Amino acid sequence: MIDMNKCGFATRQIHVGKHQNSAGALTTPIYQTSTFEFDSVEQGGRRFAGQEPGFIYTRLSNPTTNAAEEKVASLEGGEAALGTASGMGAISGALWTLLKAGDEVVADETLYGCTFSLLSHGMSRYGVQAKFADFAKPEALKEALTSKTKVVYLETPCNPTLKVVDIAAVASVAHAYNPDIKVVVDNTFASPYLQQPLKLGADVVVHSATKYINGHGDVIAGFIVGTSAFIDEVRGFGLKDMTGAVMSPFDAFLIARGLKTLSIRMERHCSNAMAVARWLHDHPAVAKVWYPGLEDFEGYEIAKKQMLLPGGMMSIEMKADRDTTAAALNKLQLCTIAVSLGDAETLVEHPASMTHSTYTPEELAASGIPEGLVRISIGLEDPEDIIADFEQAFASLV
Ligand SMILES: Cc1ncc(COP(=O)(O)O)c(C=O)c1O
Repeated sequence: MIDMNKCGFATRQIHVGKHQNSAGALTTPIYQTSTFEFDSVEQGGRRFAGQEPGFIYTRLSNPTTNAAEEKVASLEGGEAALGTASGMGAISGALWTLLKAGDEVVADETLYGCTFSLLSHGMSRYGVQAKFADFAKPEALKEALTSKTKVVYLETPCNPTLKVVDIAAVASVAHAYNPDIKVVVDNTFASPYLQQPLKLGADVVVHSATKYINGHGDVIAGFIVGTSAFIDEVRGFGLKDMTGAVMSPFDAFLIARGLKTLSIRMERHCSNAMAVARWLHDHPAVAKVWYPGLEDFEGYEIAKKQMLLPGGMMSIEMKADRDTTAAALNKLQLCTIAVSLGDAETLVEHPASMTHSTYTPEELAASGIPEGLVRISIGLEDPEDIIADFEQAFASLV
């Protein structure tokens, strides 16, 4: 009998989560059902009491969703995972389970716009206080911790500046202060193929599976990964009662399908991104390329230490002003002006007016996000074609 835990990443992304089914289907079927039959009233009672395994209702669990969850847990090196209706569903489900009125969260100062909004404007309405610090400096985190801190929260690489945070250093500062603090890492930009935060000392991983995990731009979904005890708590409380943001079986099927090629897609995203980053770095109209794979980028050394490859995401600052830059980007023909990331298509967006529009100009400045920053999610096209598209769009700028 093959021990799946000893198999490599590519084998696990394909084979973990495959269950026997009565028809012998190769892929886990879509169990498109809201509820499950019980043999008797007594059996229903035993399932609700947790005395007998089995399905009850899809807001609690579903065989197709379980298959995707098992894959993600294995790929992240966690005991268990939980599928959610979106990345924000994963983040809010995890945080609402970990926090209560009077608690504090200390978060890195650079975050996806809606996460920043949830922490700074949403949770404060319910008595949870968020503090922000620059986690690139572990001493800044140390100063922000108090006896009320229950969660330390970060992304790396960060959206949209690609700032790289040393996960092991942050986890060790937080746990040295108080071993009960939960370090939660949003691993969306890296994907489990490039980085596994639990192995670096984090307690919980959250994902927008809308991005690389699904990889095909046709699903909104998320995952929470952690210990079995924590995932059971989120399943039975944060997700079941607080947010209800449950993953649909159809989306779980698409995600399990997308996951089978995660490692291959990530290799190509990364090699394409390296080629495009080097080209943009030498372009006379570009002031700065923010990409963890470039030797002169601040996070280069930490990225090399904790990531397998530097990823498919980058941002650029142009020498031209915002309007001239927008006019040049509007000339792109192959690359698409759109938010989201991790898809086969190269996507280009302007964080200050799109994904990070929840930040005020002052908050953008405090978070190190330049107003003119342009974020690029490098797709799976031929790298020469991506470069040729930027070359024609930027021709008028030189
Ligand atoms: C880093 C990061 N985390 C979380 C999210 C939220 O994910 P979703 O849109 O699936 O809710 C996003 C969305 O862009 C993101 O970029």
